[in-house]
Amino acid sequence: VNTISQNDLAQLIAWLKKYPRLTMDAEARRFEQAWSRWLGVKYSVMCNSGASANLLMYAALDSARRSGQRKVVVPASGWPTDIAPAIQFGWKPIMCESDPVTFGLDMDFLEKIIKRERPETVVVVHVLGVPTDMTRLQKLQRRYGFNIIEDCCASHGSRHQGELVGTFGLISVFSFYYGHHMSTVEGGILCTNDEQIYHQLLMLRSHGWLKDLPPAKARRIMRQHGVDPFHAPFTFVIPGFNLRPTEISARMGQIQLRQLPATIRRRVANHRLYQQELQGAVGFAPGIKGDLISSISFCGVAESTRQRQRFVRALHRQRIDTRIFTAGNLGRHPFWTDRYPVFKAPQADKLYRGGFFLPNNQSLGRADILHICDVIKKTL
Ligand SMILES: Cc1ncc(COP(=O)(O)O)c(C=O)c1O
Repeated sequence: VNTISQNDLAQLIAWLKKYPRLTMDAEARRFEQAWSRWLGVKYSVMCNSGASANLLMYAALDSARRSGQRKVVVPASGWPTDIAPAIQFGWKPIMCESDPVTFGLDMDFLEKIIKRERPETVVVVHVLGVPTDMTRLQKLQRRYGFNIIEDCCASHGSRHQGELVGTFGLISVFSFYYGHHMSTVEGGILCTNDEQIYHQLLMLRSHGWLKDLPPAKARRIMRQHGVDPFHAPFTFVIPGFNLRPTEISARMGQIQLRQLPATIRRRVANHRLYQQELQGAVGFAPGIKGDLISSISFCGVAESTRQRQRFVRALHRQRIDTRIFTAGNLGRHPFWTDRYPVFKAPQADKLYRGGFFLPNNQSLGRADILHICDVIKKTL
C-alpha cells in the first residue's frame, strides 16, 4: 500500500526544511480542527496511536466520573486494545457475540447482557469498516441508558443510514496507522461533542497538567486550587499519561486528510465489487441495507478452517496478501482466557475458524479486485 506517497513525503520535507517546531503545538491543533470539520464533531484530540486512543477513552470516562460501576460491554470481534484498558484499569468487561450481518455487536445478545448486568458503557467496533447497527443500539440506549463508545479505527468514511460513523458515540476513536485509510505513520484521534470529556482528554494526554486546556477553563481550575500563574503550567490536576503526537504526524495528517474523500470513494467501490463477485462463493458481512462500507480490508469467511487454508495457499502463490480475520474471536486469545472463561459464541467462532482478509486499499483498482476474486473462485 502506498498510504504515504512520494508526493506526501516531498510536502513534508519542504515543511521540515523550514526548521519548524516538532513537538506538539499548532500543527496538531490545525489537524484536530480540520478533522473535527471533516467528521462534523465539536472536539478532536490527536494522540500517538489508535490503541492510545482506546486507553484514553476509558481513562476519560473514569476521570470525568462517568464510568459508574465500571461495567463495560466489549465486542468479541474487534481489537484487543478495546478491551485491554478495562483489564488494566480494573473494570468488568463483558464480552458480546458478533452479528452475522455486520460482524459487530449482536443486538439481541447485547440486550440480554444489558438486562442482566446493567453496564454503563458499551464499546462498539465497526468491524473492518462495516457499520454496526447504530439505530438499534441507540434504541437500546434510550431504553436502558449507557455511554456508547465507537471504535472507528478501521472505518473512516463508513456511514450508517447516511451518517458518518464516529458521530454516534459519546467518544469515537480513529487510527492513522500505516495501512489504514489515511496515515500519520503512527497516530490516532478521539472525537466528542462533550466539553467535559474534551477537557479530560486534553489533560490525560499530557501528564495530567492544565496548560493544554482552553485558558478560561485553566483559570477556573487555578482559582479553585489557589494556583498562581508561575505554578500554573506545571500544575498536575489529574493522573495522566504522555500520549501526544508530534508535529510531524500532525502535519502528515493534514496532507493525508486532503486525499481522504478520494480514498474513501475507491475503498467503497472496491468493497462493493468484492461483495458482487464473491456472493455465494464465500461468506462475508453484507452490512445493513443503506449503509456505506469504506473498508480497511474485505473479510471473507470460509466454510471451514481447511477451506481457509486452501484459500490462503492460493493467495500466497499469487503473492496476494492475506491473514486471519482481525483477531477472530478475542475471547479465545490468551490475554482473555488467562483471566476469564473462553468465550464460546457461534458467530464469533465462525469468524475465528474461517475468517480471512482480502486486500482493499486506495492503490487497488477494479482489475486487481477481479483478479483476487478469480483466485478465490478458482479455489472453491
Ligand atoms: C478496531 C481497531 N481499534 C484499534 C486499533 C489500534 O490502532 P493502532 O494500530 O493505531 O494502535 C486497531 C488497529 O488496527 C483497530 O483495528
